[in-house]
Amino acid sequence: MSEPVTLRREGAIAVITVNNPPVNALKQAVRAGLQKLFKEADADANVQAIVLTCAGRTFIAGADITEFGKPPMAPSLIEAITDIDNVSKPTVAAIHGTALGGGLEVALGCNYRVASKDAKLGLPEIKLGLIPGAGGTQRLPRLIGIEKALPVILSGNPVSASQALKDGLVDEIVEGDLTAGAIAFAKKAVAEKKPLKRASKMDEKLAAIRANPDSYNEIAAKAVGRNKGLKAPMAAVEAVKWTLDVPFEEAIKRERNKFIELLVTDESKSQRHAFFAEREATKVLDMPADTKAREVKRAAVIGGGTMGGGIAMCFANAGIPVTLIETTDEFLKNGLAKIKTNYENTAKRGGMSEADVEKRLSLIEGAVGLEAAKDADMVIEAVFEEMGLKKEIFGKLDAITKKGAILATNTSTLDVNEIANSTSRPQDVIGMHFFSPANIMKLLEIVRGEKSAFDALQTAITVGRKIAKVPVVVGVCYGFVGNRMLHRRGVQADRLVLEGALPQEVDGATTEFGFPMGPFAMGDLAGIDVGWRIRRARGERNEVADTLAEAGRFGQKTGKGYYIYEKGSRTPIPDPEVEKIILDASAKKGIARRPISKQEIIERTVYPMINEGARILEEGIASRPGDIDVIWLYGYGWPVWRGGPMHYADTVGLKHVRDRLAHYAKGSGDKTLEPAKLLERLANEGKTFASLANEMKKAS
Ligand code: 3HC
Ligand code: NAI
Repeated sequence: MSEPVTLRREGAIAVITVNNPPVNALKQAVRAGLQKLFKEADADANVQAIVLTCAGRTFIAGADITEFGKPPMAPSLIEAITDIDNVSKPTVAAIHGTALGGGLEVALGCNYRVASKDAKLGLPEIKLGLIPGAGGTQRLPRLIGIEKALPVILSGNPVSASQALKDGLVDEIVEGDLTAGAIAFAKKAVAEKKPLKRASKMDEKLAAIRANPDSYNEIAAKAVGRNKGLKAPMAAVEAVKWTLDVPFEEAIKRERNKFIELLVTDESKSQRHAFFAEREATKVLDMPADTKAREVKRAAVIGGGTMGGGIAMCFANAGIPVTLIETTDEFLKNGLAKIKTNYENTAKRGGMSEADVEKRLSLIEGAVGLEAAKDADMVIEAVFEEMGLKKEIFGKLDAITKKGAILATNTSTLDVNEIANSTSRPQDVIGMHFFSPANIMKLLEIVRGEKSAFDALQTAITVGRKIAKVPVVVGVCYGFVGNRMLHRRGVQADRLVLEGALPQEVDGATTEFGFPMGPFAMGDLAGIDVGWRIRRARGERNEVADTLAEAGRFGQKTGKGYYIYEKGSRTPIPDPEVEKIILDASAKKGIARRPISKQEIIERTVYPMINEGARILEEGIASRPGDIDVIWLYGYGWPVWRGGPMHYADTVGLKHVRDRLAHYAKGSGDKTLEPAKLLERLANEGKTFASLANEMKKAS
């Protein structure tokens, strides 16, 4: 294997290049190579300055996450960066793509940083439940000041090259050839005898807060935001504060120790699991490796309602022209107007420029009649949830659309195979299940029909990524993965309320667990009337929900549902009237109410979802436990530091989950609570969903 780090000379400039595809992660050989070659160039009397570049699509994207948890191998990243910091000649990092985590820390160890226009720089460790562990918490605040550094470290979000230039994180933006620009910069530094800028030695940007140390807590609290109480953000706040009162060398040691402490927390393990699960989720086990996506230059969306409008926006946001198709001019006008308002609201909040709004709107064309889908390479149907209507539309699309066009349905419950069979090309038909609001929610369940072609699947995945979604491939079943599991939680939440809990107790335990909202607040947001109408049509009844709906309490849209909402507010306020409706419902059903603990609420709502997840795996509807986790993380606000339901089950222990489910099944007589066969087997064998994932990988 060729060396991952090499050195060449361009006159008096040494150019050190990292080449470790795909993202130049800092595996041991890269750390060792960097350390050795920087020292070598430093010692070479013919070298006046050193430029660090990277081959491939990006600058160093961080430590090699696959090495975490394994025995450390020398040199550590800190040792390598310390040696770079100690070089006696100007050092210039040339950044393209993304300089992330340890990658940015290496760049911070250099005297100067130049970047290409579209480069991004960041410290995303917090997203892995960690803090920067190779000087990032110390060098960044020294270089750009604490006010600017804390949000970077605590959000984990990268900054653009232009922002970095403004902040002083980057010294120059290079138009054209980056390496040539970096060499020119290095030559200039030599010619002008620029002092070596060592972030580790800088202090002036800390002066203001040092003079007013109380201001630190205020700035930190703002940067921590809603992540208060999580280990990594708290550790980051502590570590950055060391810049004020601990010598650099000591602070670096402490930072390293904190980093190592965090590595073994459940929070970090969960977040690292989520990182890799997201990347695995689009790998279709039986898909030939050379499967190519079809080209999608133009899209069409059928139905300009709640979902269709949002889906059209996703395409426009990604620069793909899209036709929005409705049945009448009036419906079309309404659909397009909603899109316009949405964009304008974003612009008003400062999230987008007026020019951007115009550009995106110009990519969305409206039309009446399916005929307008004839030039589309991908058509996404988002009309009413009626099988007859969908089949009729797909039959017509079959006749109208180009050969090879992807015909996708956004159905949330209907059988994708039946829809596919209403065309003469079921191989081109697929489900693309977006989540509401479609322009915001990241999850995209890609539903693979029994006849979906591999390249159709690959096209949906590729387009999904292009339009900034997190695609997960699932099989055909009622509710697919996410909603099927959500249903299990809903059933239990309703029962808990009849047995003795109040909506605010169930929601409280759920948000304390880490979800952004509980099932009842979610019901109010989605509208209680939706389920009520469906149940009425089926002759079913949900005593509490339907009594609320009959009283006109449809949720947020009517200002009252499970909660009361003050005008213009989305904050749920518990309502004694609702309590009365619930107590009456319990009495009507002859249920003696009892106090219900938070623990029971979590076990009763979360474990049945895990159980359903196990059934979904048994049936092959999801290919990996991690896929289910990704669905819950991106579609339903599952807290990332708990890794997703299947990962969470591993952390509490499958035996425990199995036993508690069996206990509740026995107590209630509810057969759906009986442990799934797969859960039973794994629990008996002392295994985990993670070990199952490994078994599945080996078998494929
Ligand atoms: N370590 C190991 N593998 C990594 C990696 C890393 N830091 N970053 C990415 N990879 C792998 C991915 O798992 C994926 O593998 P696969 O092809 O086998 O699935 C492959 O590289 C390509 O990754 P993506 O599919 O994510 O490629 P993209 O082009 O979409 O994105 C990226 C590139 C923006 C760099 C993205 O991969 C990313 O965000 N990486 C993680 C960056 C990160 O978190 N860095 C900090 C690490 S912690 C650290 O540095 C600690 C330090 O402070 C001591
Ligand atoms: P909606 O009722 O808001 O919009 C449907 C639109 O389709 C209407 O504007 C209607 O005029 C239009 N339409 C009907 N027949 C048409 C035809 N022949 N040609 C063109 N347009 C036609 O419905 P919504 O909520 O957008 O749902 C659409 C689909 O998305 C359904 O299949 C639903 O199950 C699914 N879905 C809905 C989610 C939600 O939260 N609302 C989430 C995920 C999927």
